[in-house]
Amino acid sequence: MKKSLGVKPYLFPMPVLMIATYDENGTVDVMNMAWGGICSDNMVALNIFEGHKTSENIKNRKAFTISVADIDHMAEADFFGMVSASDDIRKFERTGMHALKSENVDAPIIEEFPLTLECKVVEAVNTPSGFPEIHLARVLLPHLPIFLENCLIHNADILPIPHVTVQFSWPSTVCYLIHSGI
Ligand SMILES: Cc1cc2nc3c(=O)[nH]c(=O)nc-3n(C[C@H](O)[C@H](O)[C@H](O)COP(=O)(O)O)c2cc1C
Repeated sequence: MKKSLGVKPYLFPMPVLMIATYDENGTVDVMNMAWGGICSDNMVALNIFEGHKTSENIKNRKAFTISVADIDHMAEADFFGMVSASDDIRKFERTGMHALKSENVDAPIIEEFPLTLECKVVEAVNTPSGFPEIHLARVLLPHLPIFLENCLIHNADILPIPHVTVQFSWPSTVCYLIHSGI
């Protein structure tokens, strides 16, 4: 016998993703995102509210980077989900984090986060449910800090990251920490 618990997003964990973009003046914005992730071997999907500055930036630049939030930067990750760059143009600057320009996509790479995926938008879909926009993007290159390079298992699609990552849980809206170390 099985009991129905109702429709809820039970596929846990949901890594808290940091979506980094440039605005129309080249100012860096980073947004916290739980409703997004890998949707095929080289594709990601973001489910995003169209009122966010990040949504505007992605439409203009057709690119973004995704990083995974780690425990060392939990406060900054939280801040990126609470404040909009539409209200505070100095949003990113206030965190004291550092960004460098990607050589492959028109988006910034946040130096302090452990893993970054560079992404180019291939399709944007408006949906009647959930957040109104879904952006599908192709992942071009992963970036790892030098000290993590040895963690790559060559010839396999496995990328163990020895970091404690921040995970999101709905509807409790609790953020968990998960150790995915080796
Ligand atoms: C844990 C967490 C998860 C979030 N997930 C999403 C999401 O999946 N999609 C979305 O549109 N907004 C999401 N948000 C809200 C945005 O991060 C927030 O509104 C942010 O201030 C937008 O910043 P921006 O206007 O500078 O782009 C989330 C916020 C938090 C705290």
